[in-house]
Amino acid sequence: MERDIRVRKIKDGTVIDHITAGQALNVLKIIGITREFPKTTVTVAINVPSRKAGLKDIVKVEGKELRSEEVDKIALIAPKATINIIRNYQVVEKKEVSIPPKLEGVLKCANPNCITHFEPVKTKFHVEKKEPIKLRCHYCERVMSEAEIVRQF
Ligand code: CTP
Ligand code: ZN
Repeated sequence: MERDIRVRKIKDGTVIDHITAGQALNVLKIIGITREFPKTTVTVAINVPSRKAGLKDIVKVEGKELRSEEVDKIALIAPKATINIIRNYQVVEKKEVSIPPKLEGVLKCANPNCITHFEPVKTKFHVEKKEPIKLRCHYCERVMSEAEIVRQF
């Protein structure tokens, strides 16, 4: 059993598990670790074998719970991720992420001529494809790729 433990358990915080392999660094960007460098203990595992299938990434953040906007962004790049809330070493809550059918006010449109850059309207995108993600702007119809979305994080 002992030899299966790669990264140790955390006491309080959030474990983002079953992240699409290779997306851990984008998850760190989404939760602000790369910008703020807060004094938070973060453990990252990249390309570890998953019991379910293939490889996965894991991000463990101590002492932090995620905002719903962060969870929505994680869903875009890691639609099979699970968010585990840990309190006193126990998983007290486990939820799957889900891509909201309409994303409002979360991302900017990649089309520089889009009305959303000139008028005070909330951006709105429809999900065109889930994996890899493609989002269509409600206003200009421009489709954004995963690379364009990730660039904003
Ligand atoms: N975990 C942790 N610290 C804890 C408790 C759990 O880091 N104190 C991690 C586990 O290592 C695992 C994730 O949180 O990566 C979810 O824990 P658990 O539900 O116990 O694992 P599984 O049953 O394998 O989860 P799933 O069914 O979602 O695969
Ligand atoms: Zn647009």
